[in-house]
Amino acid sequence: MKLSGRNVLITGAARRIGREIALTLAGRGANLLLHYRDSRREARGLQEEIRKRGVRCEILCCDFSPRGGAGLERRAAGFIQKAERKLGPLDVLIHNASLYFSTVFGEVREKSWDELLGVNLKTPFFLSQAAGRLMFRRKCGKIINLTDSAVANPANGYAPYTISKAGLAAMTICLARELAPHVQVNAVAPGPILPPPGMKAPRRAKVTERTLLKRFGTPADIAQTVLYLIEGTDYVTGAVIPVDGGCAAA
Ligand SMILES: NC(=O)c1ccc[n+]([C@@H]2O[C@H](COP(=O)([O-])OP(=O)(O)OC[C@H]3O[C@@H](n4cnc5c(N)ncnc54)[C@H](OP(=O)(O)O)[C@@H]3O)[C@@H](O)[C@H]2O)c1
Repeated sequence: MKLSGRNVLITGAARRIGREIALTLAGRGANLLLHYRDSRREARGLQEEIRKRGVRCEILCCDFSPRGGAGLERRAAGFIQKAERKLGPLDVLIHNASLYFSTVFGEVREKSWDELLGVNLKTPFFLSQAAGRLMFRRKCGKIINLTDSAVANPANGYAPYTISKAGLAAMTICLARELAPHVQVNAVAPGPILPPPGMKAPRRAKVTERTLLKRFGTPADIAQTVLYLIEGTDYVTGAVIPVDGGCAAA
C-alpha cells in the first residue's frame, strides 16, 4: 500500500515511539490522526511539525483506561466514528498506546489487571473491531499492533502487562483471519528501545546484556518496521515481527 494520501490513525502518538512512527509516515505523505491522552502539548507541537510537511494532521484525545468512562466497546466505536469524521476513511490503524508498570505476583490487585488489560488488549480489540469492519467493507486496510518481545521470555514482576501483550499477539492472528482477504493485520514486537522513565543504570545494563546485539534499539528501528508492513509488502498478514536485538533468540 502506498502511503501517499492515505489516512492513518496512531494511538499514543504524541511522544517516544509513537511520535517517531508519526514523523516517518508523514514523511511518506500519509495524512495522520494522532491520538493522545495526557500529552496535549506534545501532540499539538507534533501536529504543527507534521503540517509543515504538507500533509493533513489532526489530533484527538481519549483515555482508554476504565477511568475513561463507561463501556469501552461504545467508547471505541465512538472514537473511530470521530476519527473518520476528522480525517476521512481510515486506511491504517496503529495500536501504539500502552500502559507499563510492574506488579508483584501475589499482590496483584484487580484494578491494576483491569487497567493493563484494558489499555493494552481490550482497547486495541474494540478499536479494531470498529475500524476493521469498515476497512473490510471498503476492501482495503492495515492494522498494526505494538506487542513486546518479552512475551517470549517474560521478566518476573510484569505478569499482567506481559499477558496483555501476549493477548495482543494472539489477537493479531485472530484478526488476520477474521479480516482476510481485504485487511492485513500484523504486529511489531519491540525489545529494549526506550527505557521507561526512571530506569536506573544497573537495570539498563542488565537489559542490554540480555540482547544479542548488546545495545538498545532506536524508535527508528520500530518506525521502519511499521513502514515495511505498510509500504514494503501487502503479502504479510498474521505475523509478529520481533525488533529486539535478538532478545527472543538469546
Ligand atoms: N519503549 C520500549 O522500549 C518498548 C519495548 C517493548 C514494547 N514497546 C511497545 O511499543 C509501544 C510504544 O512504546 P513507548 O515506550 O513509546 O510507549 P509509552 O511511552 O509507554 O506509551 C505510549 C502512549 O500510550 C498512551 N497511553 C497510556 N495510557 C493510556 C490510556 N489509558 N489511554 C490512552 N492512551 C494511553 C500515553 O499517551 P499520553 O502521553 O498522551 O498520555 C503514552 O504516551 C507500546 O505499545 C509498548 O508497549 C516499547
